[in-house]
Amino acid sequence: MQTAISVEKIREDFPILKRKVRNNKQLVYLDNAATAQKPIQVINAISDFYTNHNSNIHRAVHALAEEATEAYEVTRDKVAQFLNIKDRREIIFVRGTTEAINLVAYTWGRQNVKQGDIIVTTEYEHHSNIVPWQLLTQEKGAKLEYIGVNDDGELLLDQLETYLATGKVKLVAISQMSNVLGTITDMAEVMRMCKKAEVKVLVDGAQSVPHMKVDLQQIGCDFFAFSAHKMLGPTGVGVLWVRKELLEQMTPFHGGGDMIREVHKYETTWNDLPYKFEAGTPNIADVIGFSAALDYLSNLGMDFVRNHEIEITKYALEKMSTIKGLKIYGTKDISKRGGVISFNFADIHPHDLATIIDEEGVAIRSGHHCAQVLMERLDVAATSRASFYIYNTKEEVDVLIKSLEKAARLFKL
Ligand code: ALA
Repeated sequence: MQTAISVEKIREDFPILKRKVRNNKQLVYLDNAATAQKPIQVINAISDFYTNHNSNIHRAVHALAEEATEAYEVTRDKVAQFLNIKDRREIIFVRGTTEAINLVAYTWGRQNVKQGDIIVTTEYEHHSNIVPWQLLTQEKGAKLEYIGVNDDGELLLDQLETYLATGKVKLVAISQMSNVLGTITDMAEVMRMCKKAEVKVLVDGAQSVPHMKVDLQQIGCDFFAFSAHKMLGPTGVGVLWVRKELLEQMTPFHGGGDMIREVHKYETTWNDLPYKFEAGTPNIADVIGFSAALDYLSNLGMDFVRNHEIEITKYALEKMSTIKGLKIYGTKDISKRGGVISFNFADIHPHDLATIIDEEGVAIRSGHHCAQVLMERLDVAATSRASFYIYNTKEEVDVLIKSLEKAARLFKL
């Protein structure tokens, strides 16, 4: 059934993919790990909200307020369904993964982490899953430790075992998929170790949720964060999921608006979950746009998404491996890798390479990818990165390969 889904048909839903860019070249968008393009269904949902339903939510009793509130809250139900979350009150809308992780660091972290405690993260984290923990551990006199990465881009999980054995670890903050290497973390193994040691786990799902089936009950972690914009939704919307027992104990992050039950001169009581953590007027239109993105991916099915990316990534890895002087980072085992390929080409600077490739209409990212700890581990200042999604084709990979060959000619490699 799922093999009948046509990528050509999917592409018709994405107006931007028709764009011509530099030199009137057809756009080949391979920067999906940074942000995904939006289908017309998402664009229309946002436009429909502002055209027909615009109102604030959870406040007035008029018709528009009711419609807006209903549409906003339906998104929460769809998130619950998408990730197999039992209790919708555990789902908090935030601005994105970064805000979600900071929320945990500023609330649960400040309430629970003490001097001498350890927080463990990994060498392949995005800055958003490093800096909040640096701020917290520095403030508390606690320590931040890193699980190393081997030459295949996989985590050295025996190091986690060693940290856990100290009995001092309060939290393991780990991403489910690296935004640079594409490595998929062995969450079952991480959770087995952490459960045994009774240590809480926060998962950064920014790169995994858009690309593979994620079941939060199956993972069994305590905190989970991801962003809408990498999964066909709008920017400025993300989700923090927290196990209810923890959420109930957590103090609010921001004060004002929806998070309040009663305010008196010198004291305030908090609203019920999840609103206790949704202060101020939220990003209503974009949460509603996110709803359409969830529908889109649910209709395709996440097995289709993953299988399509495996096919494209495998093809790209094969083709790129034949280019002399091109170094690909991360595992070659496609079952352990998402649709992300970071590479360097001889001694061409990644920014120069990305500029040459851009001349052919191909959009890739170059730089440190907000993962400078990993760049240090790889002993490079930067990489180039191609990342794929549901609308990418093998023909587009061929355009990338041709543009790499052009770069080789220009640099006389
Ligand atoms: N986190 C995004 C990336 O990997 C911005 O490009």
